[in-house]
Amino acid sequence: MDIAFLLNGESVTLHDADPTRSALDWLRDTQGLTGTKEGCNEGDCGACTIIVADAHGAKAVNACILFLGQLNGKSLTTVEGLAEGDQLHPVQDAMIDRHGSQCGFCTPGITMSLAAAHLNGDQNHDDVLAGNLCRCTGYAPIIRAAEDAAREAVPEGFNPRAGTLPDTAHHKDPARPETSDELAHALMTSPHATLIAGATDVGLWATKALRDLNPVIFLNGVKDLKDIHIGDDNIRIGAGVTLEDLRRAVATHHPHFAEMLRRFASIQVRNVATVGGNIANGSPIGDTPPALIALDATLHLRRGSETRAIPLESFFIDYGKQDRRRGEFVEAVSFKRQPDRLRVYKLSKRFDQDISAVLGAFNITVQDGTVTQARIAFGGMAGIPKRASHVEAALMDKPWTEESIRTALPLFKKDFTPMSDMRASARYRMKTAQNLLIRYWHEDQGLTTSVLEVQP
Ligand SMILES: Cc1cc2nc3c(=O)[nH]c(=O)nc-3n(C[C@H](O)[C@H](O)[C@H](O)COP(=O)(O)OP(=O)(O)OC[C@H]3O[C@@H](n4cnc5c(N)ncnc54)[C@H](O)[C@@H]3O)c2cc1C
Ligand code: FES
Ligand code: FES
Repeated sequence: MDIAFLLNGESVTLHDADPTRSALDWLRDTQGLTGTKEGCNEGDCGACTIIVADAHGAKAVNACILFLGQLNGKSLTTVEGLAEGDQLHPVQDAMIDRHGSQCGFCTPGITMSLAAAHLNGDQNHDDVLAGNLCRCTGYAPIIRAAEDAAREAVPEGFNPRAGTLPDTAHHKDPARPETSDELAHALMTSPHATLIAGATDVGLWATKALRDLNPVIFLNGVKDLKDIHIGDDNIRIGAGVTLEDLRRAVATHHPHFAEMLRRFASIQVRNVATVGGNIANGSPIGDTPPALIALDATLHLRRGSETRAIPLESFFIDYGKQDRRRGEFVEAVSFKRQPDRLRVYKLSKRFDQDISAVLGAFNITVQDGTVTQARIAFGGMAGIPKRASHVEAALMDKPWTEESIRTALPLFKKDFTPMSDMRASARYRMKTAQNLLIRYWHEDQGLTTSVLEVQP
């Protein structure tokens, strides 16, 4: 594939490049730009953070799970492109002044995350650094550096989008569709192709499982898949919307959902990972499906010119099996505008950048003290994201009281037979799932401490 982009302001054209080679590998091994470090090679540590910019802005991204094929038409800035001659970027100055580095291995990645945040005026330093591991300095000096840098202006010469893209960047390639129509056609022509959206799952198939992914179709250039439509009755989220854009879009409608998304991976991952990828991968521990199922979301699929819409929950048939036909792709997910009753609880070993052991989403409507609608969905409790239908049925048309909750709790065992794995034991999963219903009820009553005993 021919791929053209800007690297630290200079135009680059790669002819016949392997589209699934990682940007990190190419930067270090071909360009000798070894400032960008390789740590985990799976999107967890942030040592490989670079800034990728396009017309939508400049974002911190992990280069280890970013494919060359995703870079066409973009502008890349590595740590080597941060200073202007001898003039260090304010983040670099602050990292020195505040002793933000010891062994230095994490330092380029941390500096790039902070430079992206500095550019975008993002001062939630804890969130910004959730995807950057530092084992020796400790975060206090790094946060002090971030605070110092935040008081300095963005240097005039620092513009990750500056430069003129090579003409090749505008060349068409069927593996790089720009509209849903082109994607539908490409996938009908090559139905076995690997679809690559943000590559935050697929990237690991290459770096860890060493799989040959070709042929591939990249979705990150499909403009209409990135649409978010907030209508009077409906909210429709395109499959190509990133988790970070989803977080912003739902913040006013369902703030608890947005708060959970703040804990979805890290900013580097959320900047590229898509809603469509989080659904299509069929993971039993994907964080958005339970929340969307609790909102009674509809999934929109397309194959050629045929489209169909199904309840999102019915997409997940069994572990590793989804209702997706050959040549079909996820176009969007939509749900009704509704009064906000949604609470989403993510339980994981770490607060930041961790996969859920259990994720419970509750959307229970109460009118005049009686439950009139109950939608409860869980991740981590079965081989697929799944509703707690028996629990829902037990709550329906009942008074919204402690007694009704107590009656419903044992029914979790009819809905789920969770497994034990490295994240949690089956017993822990069952108990916490029950506790989350209690928590939902308590929060709804304005109570904060538990007065209910969960049945063993
Ligand atoms: C460090 C790290 C932390 C993570 N933390 C979390 C977390 O906290 N919570 C969580 O849920 N996940 C997490 N993930 C997993 C991953 O980020 C998500 O599943 C993400 O939403 C995948 O989206 P993507 O766009 O990167 O998908 P990709 O990796 O590009 O694709 C994933 C799968 O979906 C298919 N696909 C993509 N788009 C479509 C489409 N439109 N139609 C049909 N098929 C499609 C691909 O072919 C592939 O099979 C994490 C991953 C990493 C690396
Ligand atoms: S090397 Fe760890 S996130 Fe890329
Ligand atoms: S300074 Fe050593 S890992 Fe951060």
